[in-house]
Amino acid sequence: MFDFTPDHDGDAPLPKAEQYRQLNEAAGALTDGENDTIANMANVAALMWEFIPRLNWAGFYRLIEGELVLGPFIGRPACIRIPLDTGVCGAAAKTGETQLVEDVHAFPGHIACDAASKSELVVPVKKDGVVVGVIDLDSPEMARFDAEDAAGVELLAATLSAAISR
Ligand code: SME
Repeated sequence: MFDFTPDHDGDAPLPKAEQYRQLNEAAGALTDGENDTIANMANVAALMWEFIPRLNWAGFYRLIEGELVLGPFIGRPACIRIPLDTGVCGAAAKTGETQLVEDVHAFPGHIACDAASKSELVVPVKKDGVVVGVIDLDSPEMARFDAEDAAGVELLAATLSAAISR
């Protein structure tokens, strides 16, 4: 049986490259042979929570009929519907580009679902090149995410793409 917990060395955090390698391996194994979008997003949300440290929210919004709708997540209850011209998630879905925000309070239109959030990483999830949703990660730390996090989560979005429908 595949072990879906990070392979920590005692309390030492994993190097980011290794953390995302393990996360992607676990996501691939856990979604293999399953094509239910909600089930796969739910398990990937749980894996992100497990593998990526210092988060207060990890989950999905799905793009449905032109707006983002809350999907599986771990964290505090969040806004249910987000128009594409609003917030960090809306920007990622609208442009199809990753949004790495060091200080959410400086982002025009940022939606504060949890007042504790200080930085945010949002990565579009695409199916056949079309945006079908976003992965949203929030952290209570300022500038928590860097280019290595963005690359790791983009890889995760690509892994998940094979395991969801439009
Ligand atoms: N902060 C996001 C909204 C989603 S919550 O953080 C879960 C945004 O501005 O798009």
